Amino acid sequence: MCGIIGYSGVQNATSILIEGLKRLEYRGYDSAGIAILHGEELAVRRSVGKLENLENLVRKEPLGGTVGIGHTRWATHGRPSEQNAHPHRSGDLVLVHNGIIENYLLLKHRLETEGYRFDSETDTEVMAHLLASYMKGGQSVYDAVRSAVGDLQGSYAVAVLCMSEPKVIVTARSGCPLVIGKNGEGTYLASDVTPLLVHTREVVFLEDGEIGVLTPSSISVTGMDGRTINRVPVQIDWDADAAEKEGYPHYMLKEIHEQPQVIMDTLGGRYDFDTGEADLPDLAISPEDLIRARRIWIVACGTSWHAGLVGKYLFEEMIGNPVQVDIASEFRYREPMIQEDDLFIAISQSGETADTLAAAREAKRRGAGVLAIVNVVGSSLAREADGVIYTRCGPEISVASTKAFTGQIIAMYLLALHMGRVRKILNIEEGRWWLDQYMMLPGRVEHVLKQEPNILASAKQYCTKKNFLYLGRGINYPIALEGALKLKEISYIHAEGYAAGEMKHGPIALVDEEMPVVVLAPRDRLYDKTINNLMEVRARNAPIVALASEGDHDIHRVAEVVFPIPDVHPLLTPILFTVALQLFAYHIAVLRGLDVDRPRNLAKSVTVE
Ligand code: G6P
Repeated sequence: MCGIIGYSGVQNATSILIEGLKRLEYRGYDSAGIAILHGEELAVRRSVGKLENLENLVRKEPLGGTVGIGHTRWATHGRPSEQNAHPHRSGDLVLVHNGIIENYLLLKHRLETEGYRFDSETDTEVMAHLLASYMKGGQSVYDAVRSAVGDLQGSYAVAVLCMSEPKVIVTARSGCPLVIGKNGEGTYLASDVTPLLVHTREVVFLEDGEIGVLTPSSISVTGMDGRTINRVPVQIDWDADAAEKEGYPHYMLKEIHEQPQVIMDTLGGRYDFDTGEADLPDLAISPEDLIRARRIWIVACGTSWHAGLVGKYLFEEMIGNPVQVDIASEFRYREPMIQEDDLFIAISQSGETADTLAAAREAKRRGAGVLAIVNVVGSSLAREADGVIYTRCGPEISVASTKAFTGQIIAMYLLALHMGRVRKILNIEEGRWWLDQYMMLPGRVEHVLKQEPNILASAKQYCTKKNFLYLGRGINYPIALEGALKLKEISYIHAEGYAAGEMKHGPIALVDEEMPVVVLAPRDRLYDKTINNLMEVRARNAPIVALASEGDHDIHRVAEVVFPIPDVHPLLTPILFTVALQLFAYHIAVLRGLDVDRPRNLAKSVTVE
């Protein structure tokens, strides 16, 4: 949830930390802080609210020094306040932390009896005092970290800086992501690679139970037992500029417009027209296992869960395989009837979502092969799964997920094709035919993006409404859920997604002239049924916004507004509809004057339960 950063080197640490925090801000942002070691002084600056507040503070009270750590906080224990913001201090030592210390109350009592005074309501401060208490006994920072982690229950990624060992940062992880890297000007650590890219392309991902030690010229990794671990750095190909807004007013809009490219990149090099096959080199699940898999399980959270629901319709229709889709937080706490031969797919943009990770571990424990569909290279989920399909979306900065969703669905199109070919459900010709259909998608999405002026005009028409209903059927039912989620996430308008056929069983009671109904109505086998639902809506005077197939003139008879969507195979319509709904939600939120990229109360990456 929170973001941590650290630097030890020869440059001014303040600007490096602040720039790094800016790139991590999307992880959580109710407060931020930095600590810089300069000569005999270990100075801390913390501030509530946006990062610019911290920047202003640092401008007023500048900090020299070439070693420091920083943090952006998303509150878990204790409200957002300056006292609760990190870094936390105990004597000569400061610490930043991402995660939750579950036994902090117990430790707090122990430390209080030792005479430590607590200034904050956080679980993190416990760790600062715990380290100090071990150091009081004569331990180095490194040894104190090793001792302290033995006392901790919960999850953490920490970075510690102490005046007794200037220039050294000790960092450790268990359950929360941590990346370290180095160049000629120093060493760096962060919660993910995004802030490191401007400094280095070669990074080391710390694993659970490992400790990193950073000096201005070296990084070393050991286990908790002290043994050295030689980890080969991973080369990251992401362009640092990919994380910039590139002229768009918001990351979200930029990311929506990147989707044709995302489709091309995610498909790129992963198909063979000669054989009509998908080529997924990191899949690491053998054709035999794919043939054996009686059931597919898909587990995810949020927008990724909606992608999973699309996957259900896709796999069932394209390859005739039963699919069970679960919300990760539900899966992990029930008794899922998952069997050894089942294929388990965990979908996650970040690869760090706590519930999704826990669900994947549970599936593994029960003997299922775990496949991750993930965007962030080297993320925890990607590393723990048996196989991976990376979505190649580049960093997604806006909290509301857009391009990652598209990448996830494309990954499933490839997997469905691969399974269909392996199981001989699809022959070469059919395989080629599907590839042709996939290849058309970037152009079709471009076409939808060109409708932005019309979508903006409708957003103006409806942006003052207080409630929306989204309806869809079949493979577009999950898209109704996703459209509603996008609207509520960024515009704070109450919106519900519903299966159109279910409307009569409740939501119709809400429908009146004040409630726009957004409907997904492609010309498919369910079209007539959807039109019947719309007649019922119409009879109650609700304004209807229809997303319909290009050339469908009949729809104008029931709908107030129509967005024509280019023709594709029914199983491929979700991506096109989603792009239109993303734009609709985006413009409504902008018209309402909201901070689209950083919606209130939400975090990009939910790394705690
Ligand atoms: C948070 C984000 C959502 C995202 C969900 C799952 O709630 O705000 O946009 O869909 O987490 O995240 P993941 O990284 O696992 O896809």
